[in-house]
Amino acid sequence: MNSARVYDYLLGGKDSQDIDRDVAGQMLSSAPEIKTVAWFCRSFALKAVEMAADAGVRQFLDLGSGIPNSPNVHEVAQEIDPSARVVYVDYDPVVHAHCDALLAKPDGVTALLGDVRRPHDILDQLKNHTLIDFNEPVAITLIGVLHYVMDSEDPAGIIAAFRDQLAPGSYLAITHGSLDSAQEILQVLAGNKGTSAQVAFRSPAQTEAILAGFELLEPGVVPVQHWLRPDLPETRMVMDAAICRKP
Ligand SMILES: C[S@@+](CC[C@H](N)C(=O)[O-])C[C@H]1O[C@@H](n2cnc3c(N)ncnc32)[C@H](O)[C@@H]1O
Repeated sequence: MNSARVYDYLLGGKDSQDIDRDVAGQMLSSAPEIKTVAWFCRSFALKAVEMAADAGVRQFLDLGSGIPNSPNVHEVAQEIDPSARVVYVDYDPVVHAHCDALLAKPDGVTALLGDVRRPHDILDQLKNHTLIDFNEPVAITLIGVLHYVMDSEDPAGIIAAFRDQLAPGSYLAITHGSLDSAQEILQVLAGNKGTSAQVAFRSPAQTEAILAGFELLEPGVVPVQHWLRPDLPETRMVMDAAICRKP
């Protein structure tokens, strides 16, 4: 089982295997709206990229980028300014190979293999290859990734390591599994403890604490669909989302 391929399946992609579809099937039987939530998260990510690009940001770092699913970050960013640069990072060699083959073709687009839990390794790669100019603002997207980082792996320290390198006016957008999800869903997820699908869903307050040092944009840390439109349904699996800015 591979979380990126499970997610790809939920988004309607074609890169999953039987074992991934089995896991997705189990998740869908306990929470059929997961596909909808996945699409909310995707729409939110693209909205955040658009917002940062409209504010003048021209460098994008998609951490835990997953298997490419059009439109991608660079398609949105380069539509606003063709000179925008985008770096996709994932720790999964299979995902990285997909990104390298499918995404790193247009000018200004690169795919890197990197583990978010080792932020300095990623920052060193970015600096050594001069892919990102940290004197200029950067927009980081971490969509559906931070809940794979356990408390013992210091998610706040990871965010701080990136934050400290960012120029003022940089953006960070995240989605994060929420403890406001229905109990039966949290119970199903608890069954993944000790496997590669293990997650640490957090309360909105815990997620906000991880974003310390950034200025949270309105409406703050809220279910992802609240960022999109007022008429979208609530879901029993709640993904919180936030966009913040480095002052
Ligand atoms: C649920 S998918 C989300 C993919 C993409 N961000 C999106 O929203 O479409 C989670 C992705 O995060 C990646 N990931 C999980 N933990 C990671 C880590 N520690 N470092 C880098 N990537 C990670 C997985 O390989 C997977 O591709």
